[in-house]
Amino acid sequence: MRIDIVTIFPEYFGPLGVSLIGKAAERGEITFAVHDLRHWTHDVHHTVDDAPFGGGPGMVMKPEPWGEALDAVVEQGVRRAAGQGQSPAAGQVQAEAVGRGQPPLLVIPTPSGVPFTQRRAVAYAAEPWLIFACGRYEGIDARVADDARSRLRVDEVSIGDYVLAGGEPAVLVMTEAVCRLLPGVLGNVASVADDSFGAGGGPMAGLVEGPSFTRPRLWRNLEVPPVLLSGDHGAIARWRRDEALKRTARNRPDLIRKLAPAQPDVAGVSRDTPRSPLNDHDRSVLSEAGFPVTGEDVAH
Ligand code: ADE
Repeated sequence: MRIDIVTIFPEYFGPLGVSLIGKAAERGEITFAVHDLRHWTHDVHHTVDDAPFGGGPGMVMKPEPWGEALDAVVEQGVRRAAGQGQSPAAGQVQAEAVGRGQPPLLVIPTPSGVPFTQRRAVAYAAEPWLIFACGRYEGIDARVADDARSRLRVDEVSIGDYVLAGGEPAVLVMTEAVCRLLPGVLGNVASVADDSFGAGGGPMAGLVEGPSFTRPRLWRNLEVPPVLLSGDHGAIARWRRDEALKRTARNRPDLIRKLAPAQPDVAGVSRDTPRSPLNDHDRSVLSEAGFPVTGEDVAH
């Protein structure tokens, strides 16, 4: 996978060289290219922002540097892809996709975008080439995304219902969530299948994970739940699902409400959470924990 990032703060992306993702980049499985937006300004002050039309507080990022930057990054990528041959794995995959005429996916982080979820992370992990455009201030002139849509796929994406000072931390978050899903990046592939939200349809589909424990068995007079030491894999899997259900009900009742009842396609239920029907045992676990679930709950 290739990831281009356009920003006015290239130094923000130092952490991409760290830990498992840094190692994957060293091995050539991911190629990161961070570009300074100011490179595409033409005035002495390298101006990237201006006052908003219509008035109001803050500044808006000017369209001209963004237009030039995105044109250049895409064109460089297409040219590089055309000349690939002896490239590392990440470049090869990108080259093949570009060769098939697949344009990169441009991701613009913004608090007004669609939610970034585990399901979206899984979809992005299947992309050979992502471009992230980091806005600052009051965002990027809206014509930049409109113009890019004429030749690229464009997603405007939010990482949560809060406002950051810029898209950079959102890009770090998304990059980590996407890259850890790439084959070979995490040591243990199974840990992705068991992730919270289970976007791949694993046992945690639509749930957050329950608690984890390691040695010692007794610590500060607190015991590890005996079932985890039993060696009974069926009982352990059941216990884990029960704990996930209880924790999800406690911390994320919205997710429990989204889990499918018997009838499919309830109007108004988000399709972004994978369906994991609750069976009778699940319902009794939730009920015992004080979170009874009925079909009617799900419709709201
Ligand atoms: N930029 C500012 N706030 C953001 C958010 N919540 N998500 C993505 N990008 C942002």
